[in-house]
Amino acid sequence: MFAPTPRQAVQDLRLSKIREVANAGLGRDDILTFWFGESDQPTPEFIRRAAAEALMQGRTYYTHNLGRADLRQSLSDYLTRLHGVPIGPDRLAVTSAGVNALMLAAQLVVSPGDRAVVVGPIWPNVVEIPKILSAEVEVVPLEPAQGRWRLDLDRLMDALTPDTRLLVVNSPNNPTGWMLSPDDRAAILERCRRNGTWLLCDDVYERLTFDRPTAPSFLPLATPEDRVIGTNSFSKAWRMTGWRLGWMVVPPPLLDGLGVLIEYNTSCAPDFVQEGAKAALDHGDAYVSEVRAELAAARDQVLGALRAMPGVEAPQPDGGFYAFFKVGGCADSMALAKDLIREVGLGLAPGSAFGPEGEGWLRWCFAARPEKNAAGLERLADYLSRR
Ligand SMILES: Cc1ncc(COP(=O)(O)O)c(C=O)c1O
Repeated sequence: MFAPTPRQAVQDLRLSKIREVANAGLGRDDILTFWFGESDQPTPEFIRRAAAEALMQGRTYYTHNLGRADLRQSLSDYLTRLHGVPIGPDRLAVTSAGVNALMLAAQLVVSPGDRAVVVGPIWPNVVEIPKILSAEVEVVPLEPAQGRWRLDLDRLMDALTPDTRLLVVNSPNNPTGWMLSPDDRAAILERCRRNGTWLLCDDVYERLTFDRPTAPSFLPLATPEDRVIGTNSFSKAWRMTGWRLGWMVVPPPLLDGLGVLIEYNTSCAPDFVQEGAKAALDHGDAYVSEVRAELAAARDQVLGALRAMPGVEAPQPDGGFYAFFKVGGCADSMALAKDLIREVGLGLAPGSAFGPEGEGWLRWCFAARPEKNAAGLERLADYLSRR
């Protein structure tokens, strides 16, 4: 008899350490949690209302594999406005959130044994997804220097060997808040062009920037013929994490194949959910500005307080909604995260959840109301004073 086991590649996947910490806090309602990457506020009413009305009209049927035509047109208008280059519906597909877009991108271009390079530390899914397809993944680590996270471009270039099939860049980066420098883009794109490497830009945090309307992107530099794929999501900028809706920007020749892959993964996104997304794109500019202003204030609040704590190193995030910081003397971030839950009821994500490059660090999602951030900061200060 054969044992009922999944494929080896599946057995080899890392378990999410964010989940491990969250499970350690299960059953306690006194914990202040900052471990997941989402706001503590619900999706704004104008988006919820649009979806609710569509639902009540009975819009409960299958839609096109690539998403509704009017939503893809709204996406095209939005992206063209944002990046200043035409991005037509012939390059756009609606996906079941950003994580599904990452999986579809990998399914489009990655084969067993392929080599992928990822800039990290990074949200674990970005590394594990190519591994599900039996690819080998190398992480090029970001480094803290002069109070910010930086990418060693030479080191990345060295990793981009001619046999590299895929490069994944997530900017702004989860967990560090590192943002790609506009000056580095051309060299990276050029190297990918020369080697035939696919460049996957995970842009889910692109609107969560503090000094510009959107993060520097590869999209304005790339031509539609380039091997460049963008993955994105409604989750973060419009506070729609639970809606599970995202999108992809692909070269036009990939679109038909992508539609087939979507058919065999999820078939399509729900119609009424897409109606909410259309409202977000068509009427959400002012709302995104509000989110950004709130996040800028939260960043200053949390980073300022962390830096004032003895032994804490907290580089400045240039985008996103995370503080990635180090507590002096911490070599085991999982043990520290569990101790923080036990001792003071503070829920943070351990840096090791983002790969070995993140060991020794902790991640705080500051997309919370100021009172909640303040209460959490008090608990951390209390814990550190007792150490
Ligand atoms: C780097 C990164 N990419 C993609 C996603 C996917 O988000 P979602 O699946 O909610 O769209 C996340 C979510 O936290 C993320 O941090």
